[in-house]
Amino acid sequence: KIVVPCSSSPSLARSVSDVLGAQVAEVERKRFPDGEMYVRVLSDVAGREAFVLGNTNRDDAYLELLLTLDACRENGASRVIAVVPYFGYARQHMVYKRGEAVSSKVMTLTIGEFADRIITVEIHDEMTLKYSKRPFMNVSVYESMSAYYSRKGVDLVVSPDDGGLHRAEMLAKGLECDFFAINKKRIDSRTVSMEVPNVDVKGKRVLLVDDIISTGGTIAKAASLLRDMGASSVYVTAVHGVFANNSVSKIQEVVDEVAVTNTIEGIFSKIDIAPELASAM
Ligand code: R5P
Repeated sequence: KIVVPCSSSPSLARSVSDVLGAQVAEVERKRFPDGEMYVRVLSDVAGREAFVLGNTNRDDAYLELLLTLDACRENGASRVIAVVPYFGYARQHMVYKRGEAVSSKVMTLTIGEFADRIITVEIHDEMTLKYSKRPFMNVSVYESMSAYYSRKGVDLVVSPDDGGLHRAEMLAKGLECDFFAINKKRIDSRTVSMEVPNVDVKGKRVLLVDDIISTGGTIAKAASLLRDMGASSVYVTAVHGVFANNSVSKIQEVVDEVAVTNTIEGIFSKIDIAPELASAM
């Protein structure tokens, strides 16, 4: 096995390789004078299973992933596996309004053209997996997340919406505490309304968990509500920290700590999901 990192995931590639005892490939990347992207895998991949690790949330990252998959195939890898820690474009997994494209299907089918199988982490909606013509595995990372919070002490796990109730339940199970979901309604891509059920949070250390923090609107609003209801501490976590438009500063104003996993690498990616990811590889 050889792990071939894209530029989105250098440190996750190293941790996964440590767990697997596999080599991390060297990759040359540059731009041609006209701005077009160039990728060359320098390590020998011939006859080996190549695990190409890269995200698809930025357009250039998506192209880099495709080029890196192709470089492995062209250079004789026995199997090429796309490992996409954060599967971007997955939120548009169906036509909501007439005339729209289904971006998650486009990503899945194009990646599958260059890979024998696809592995991702807590994709926004599993419906995306159904578009794939290749085996497509969705890895859960509850264990790494609850291990991180078991050191802090949490009394209650809260999901900001019904869709995340199962995730809250799994974390609460690991932390041996209660959980509930806030009733959220999305008004548009930047505005949501929320109602908290009749649960006593006074004096409690609350962990708010979501799949993605993007604009931070959802989590900041939920955190303020829990604070107003008397929670003693509010920790915020998510699998994927997108933090669009520097949204983390608005969240930090109302919470005690923000920690996300390293599916997207950044200063808040304090939870290493390499154990779960490596076991799927
Ligand atoms: C929505 O269904 C998701 O689970 C997240 O709550 C949402 O994507 C977060 O987005 P934002 O940070 O922009 O509120």
